[in-house]
Amino acid sequence: MDKNIAILAGDGIGPEVMQSAISVLDAISDKYGHSFIYTKALVGGAAYEKYQNHLPQDTIEICKKSDAILFGSVGGPVTEQTNPKWKNCETNSILAIRKEFNFNINLRKATIYPNLVDLSPLKNSLIPNGLDIVILRELLGDIYFGEHYLGNKNGSRFASDIAEYSEEQILSIARYAFDVARLRTKKVVSVDKANVMATSKLWREIVSEVAKEYPDVECSDMLVDNCAMQLVRNPSQFDVILTANLFGDILSDELSVLSGSIGMMPSISLNASGFGLYEPAGGSAPEIAGKNIANPIAQILSASMMLSYLFNLQKEAQAIEHAIKTTIMQGFGTLDLKDAVKVVLGTKEFTKEVIKNIL
Ligand code: IPM
Ligand code: MG
Repeated sequence: MDKNIAILAGDGIGPEVMQSAISVLDAISDKYGHSFIYTKALVGGAAYEKYQNHLPQDTIEICKKSDAILFGSVGGPVTEQTNPKWKNCETNSILAIRKEFNFNINLRKATIYPNLVDLSPLKNSLIPNGLDIVILRELLGDIYFGEHYLGNKNGSRFASDIAEYSEEQILSIARYAFDVARLRTKKVVSVDKANVMATSKLWREIVSEVAKEYPDVECSDMLVDNCAMQLVRNPSQFDVILTANLFGDILSDELSVLSGSIGMMPSISLNASGFGLYEPAGGSAPEIAGKNIANPIAQILSASMMLSYLFNLQKEAQAIEHAIKTTIMQGFGTLDLKDAVKVVLGTKEFTKEVIKNIL
């Protein structure tokens, strides 16, 4: 299979972990006889240096010509946020690319590997079977894309953010979540704040209508404050979580840390035509960039999700997941996993072990 992949490595640890993902993809293409053609493009602070723009048109054009976007991470040090290179870098690049390609569906996956259970901040007794949760987050509506106002009203400072949802927006993500649930344990928990918000009342109404189209999938509603609590109290009750943009942002960060390291959560953003962007859920971590210590697992798993969700290369995706699991079971890990692995390796060296385990 021939595929063109736009490579947007971005900033911080982005380029290093991207190199790991590319090496793994190359190993897969050698073994399984595919040809992946990579076209690199700038995004984030890296793009700003050349274009004074965090998401230049050249980059958008490269993405448009590609079959998929493999994205690293963007953003600079917290202490340098007033520098124009970093000011609003994440929103200018990530939110803009979501809008440009109509990526309304976001899927993030949290997994706890059996011998990394001790890394989880949760008590072992709460996760007897590890953890495997998928969160489906709507990505183009809600308070993110409603009108934002920061100014004055009646002589004093005033701000407002408008949350909006259309029926079509909710229908699209809800149907996707139920489709995903059908491939898993057929259980969806829809999370909202229907006791307060109108957008949530509409959300709940539409999700219950979609649930009728999927009688084989069990569906329940949960308020977001309760969900935040249930995730640390009894995470095993969840399989697919379906939620709106802002709640999904918050809950996916909570979920990511349950597996012990934010460096292990892959994510995908899709539009209605199936075109997608594949990226680690974590940030650019500038404090550890360039030191060969970053965990490449989330980036590699994002590439593996690209193979399974977009190119339908299930065997190849499974080979990657299996290789990562085996490498961890062999006792190898990166610095963030030091409390649970026997041998701490650098990003490159860990990636080499993963590649050795690709069957
Ligand atoms: C995420 C990020 C973004 C979001 C930021 C960088 C705008 O936190 O992808 O979760 O809030 O969606
Ligand atoms: Mg977030």
